[in-house]
Amino acid sequence: MNEELVQQLDGLGANGLPYAIPIHPNLVHITLGLFIIAIAFDIAGNLFPLEKSILNFLAIKAVRSNFYDVGWYNVIAAAIVTFFTVAAGFYEMLLATPSPDVISAWGLGAMETMIWHGVGGVLLLTLIVGMAVWRGMQRFAWRKDSARQVQWSYLLVGLVILLIMFLQGTLGAHLGGEFGVHNTADGLLKLGEDPNLLLK
Ligand code: HEM
Repeated sequence: MNEELVQQLDGLGANGLPYAIPIHPNLVHITLGLFIIAIAFDIAGNLFPLEKSILNFLAIKAVRSNFYDVGWYNVIAAAIVTFFTVAAGFYEMLLATPSPDVISAWGLGAMETMIWHGVGGVLLLTLIVGMAVWRGMQRFAWRKDSARQVQWSYLLVGLVILLIMFLQGTLGAHLGGEFGVHNTADGLLKLGEDPNLLLK
């Protein structure tokens, strides 16, 4: 948003936010972690017949449904948390005043990066919620009596979503790292202060 408008808000810190630590970068890692674990454990559940001898050898008493429980509860948690991740992202994007003359490693300016990252975030929220519904249908209806609870197509779509998350995360990292959005050290440098003094 226009820097003059943002300055109308009182009490913004060096990071351009009314609080010390940006919320969105913390929540994104919860979204990413939960979704990665959800897909990884469902893959482990589907490959269970291959793993059984290794688990027995290691005396690990895991049953197939344990892996599917982790997959299910993690995708549900990812769907819930991502509403907050996206909400915090929109709020922090509204207060963003990125450097307009910087071009990212992907050859994009600040506005293009913010638009792609914003659209990507809403797309990911939709996909994760859709995956949670799909997973629920498999668990409680379509495959509730099958030994293999999860469809291979679900896992394939999950892996594609992980690829989109990689692109989304890199765009986000460009916002914080290259355009200095809500980056305290960058803000202090712009104010002519020495960020190293914070460490002393
Ligand atoms: C699931 C969806 C999303 C994911 C996985 C995601 C991921 C990320 C990541 C990894 C970063 C870098 C964090 C860091 O530097 O440590 C980031 C930064 C950022 N993202 Fe997102 N993002 C998502 C959705 C959104 C949305 C919808 C918006 C706003 C429309 C947004 C706005 C921002 C902003 C402004 C930053 C710069 C740092 C900050 O001020 O928070 N993000 N994002």
